[in-house]
Amino acid sequence: MGKEEKARFTVRLARPGDMAAIMEIERTAFRPAVRASNERIGLRLALFPRGFWVLEQEGQVAAWVSSLLLSEETLRTLRTLEESEQTLDENLHRPDGRVLYIRSLGVRPASQRQGCGQALINCLLGIARKNGWPLVVLLAEPKNEKYYVEKFGFERTSGYRLFQGGNHAVFEKRMV
Ligand SMILES: CC(C)(COP(=O)(O)OP(=O)(O)OC[C@H]1O[C@@H](n2cnc3c(N)ncnc32)[C@H](O)[C@@H]1OP(=O)(O)O)[C@@H](O)C(=O)NCCC(=O)NCCS
Repeated sequence: MGKEEKARFTVRLARPGDMAAIMEIERTAFRPAVRASNERIGLRLALFPRGFWVLEQEGQVAAWVSSLLLSEETLRTLRTLEESEQTLDENLHRPDGRVLYIRSLGVRPASQRQGCGQALINCLLGIARKNGWPLVVLLAEPKNEKYYVEKFGFERTSGYRLFQGGNHAVFEKRMV
């Protein structure tokens, strides 16, 4: 696919009507151990619609990203959280939080490595910058660590703990 073709996509806010396409990407891009349910993904959209975006290619949803807002106080409690104390990430959302937690990024297999993930992450980084939010955090599996470090300048941190199943590490990017 050439560069001009690559650019032919639209990034827009997700809508409830996108849920079927979003869940299809969840099913095809993620292995069962790290897949989230329709209820949890729907909850993320309801809690923080401004942080949930889709990318359309030729009129079809090809990728999506969801996020939550954490308060700096919540982040402090996550420094010492034990696995047994974990709660659903969606419970950590605070509408007035200033830490953007990129909760999940999925690109359908046929659209991977064409810049879709990059467009969605850059969209969220732009929102964080515009709002003056000082920190963006995410979890990544070892196979994707290089992606977040090399493409976007995230750094691995052991400063706080977030749990998502699988073998994820926490990454952060300071925005100021
Ligand atoms: C990992 C994922 C989100 C990346 O998104 P993407 O749209 O495929 O990747 P992009 O097109 O934005 O980025 C492509 C570039 O990043 C690199 N890249 C992509 N995935 C990578 C990875 N896992 N590790 C290292 N580099 C990677 C490519 O080499 C490419 O580099 P180039 O532009 O210099 O050629 C996507 O492939 C995906 O959904 N995978 C399956 C589910 C998953 O793992 N989700 C993330 C959970 S943390």
